[in-house]
Amino acid sequence: MLRNFSLRFRGQGACVVENVDLDVAAGEILCIVGESGCGKSVTAMALMGLLPSDTARIPDGSMTFDGRTFDLTTEGIPSDMRGSDMAMIFQEPMTSLNPAFRIGDQIAESVERHKGCSRADARARALEMLRRVGLPSPEQRLDQYPHQLSGGQRQRVMIAMALANDPRLLIADEPTTALDVTIQAQILELIRDLQRDTGMGTIMITHDLGVVAEVADTVAVMYGGQIVETGPVAEVFENPQHPYTIGLMASVPRLTGPRARLTTIPGTVPTTDAMAEGCRFRTRCAFAAPLCATRPAPTRLTGGHAVACHFAPLEQHLAVAG
Ligand SMILES: Nc1ncnc2c1ncn2[C@@H]1O[C@H](COP(=O)(O)OP(=O)(O)OP(=O)(O)O)[C@@H](O)[C@H]1O
Ligand SMILES: [Mg+2]
Repeated sequence: MLRNFSLRFRGQGACVVENVDLDVAAGEILCIVGESGCGKSVTAMALMGLLPSDTARIPDGSMTFDGRTFDLTTEGIPSDMRGSDMAMIFQEPMTSLNPAFRIGDQIAESVERHKGCSRADARARALEMLRRVGLPSPEQRLDQYPHQLSGGQRQRVMIAMALANDPRLLIADEPTTALDVTIQAQILELIRDLQRDTGMGTIMITHDLGVVAEVADTVAVMYGGQIVETGPVAEVFENPQHPYTIGLMASVPRLTGPRARLTTIPGTVPTTDAMAEGCRFRTRCAFAAPLCATRPAPTRLTGGHAVACHFAPLEQHLAVAG
């Protein structure tokens, strides 16, 4: 649904996000995973029209959504679809909750605006949503302000608000990173349940492979603004093919087996201006060769798995190398 999306900020030499394709089916969760700074949030924000139009330029890209294709270089997703057909939740709930308004009023106002229903119906919908996201004593909560809730409760309210207008696509940007692990698991489960019930497609952004393993149907691994590997989650976890994905998997601590030192990928994500032509991972890659100065086209493996590496599938090259 997202095709060939690129994004450049004014004054920067290279695109922060380059030629990104993403597909998410109805009723499925696509996780975008990648290191800090690789361009996950700016991609989501561009889709929601949240980037400042004076500095962010979209030289290429289109998005097909609900059977319609929108050219992102010009008009983007129409504003009346954002927040209703396509909703977003953020890492920090206070970015979308207004501290000065009661929770019930905030949800009801959004429902009234997008669905054009009466205030009473909108308020009933707000209550129904607070119940659905499992907020304790929802009737009383309607009249509370965001600061009267805990972080986990605020995150539930934000989910209630995002889902109140029955979106077909939900974008969740690190929705659980700010929460402790038990609440994190509850919120992930909530999103997964609601998403299955409603059949909406979901793009979940995370830097945590544990979250990916927990919720994803498909995964897109992002490095330096490019998708380097994508496919069904079991396929990518069992048979990672891009050297970056392999490094990312190896850096997850395990409790089984002998306690080894944590593996890290040497180096850091290059800044946008320092981004190499060709494969952007090549400055950190153990397999880098002169060939990598040209951009690798995705190699399609079996079962919907694709890898943007000249050396994919890796086994083949490792076998040749000896
Ligand atoms: N308004 C802006 N102007 C210029 N550069 C920006 C702007 N917003 C973000 N960037 C740059 O775009 C790059 C991608 O940022 P982004 O926030 O998408 O990273 P991320 O993958 O979401 O990281 P994290 O995991 O830390 O949230 C970064 O190098 C960032 O500095
Ligand atoms: Mg981010």
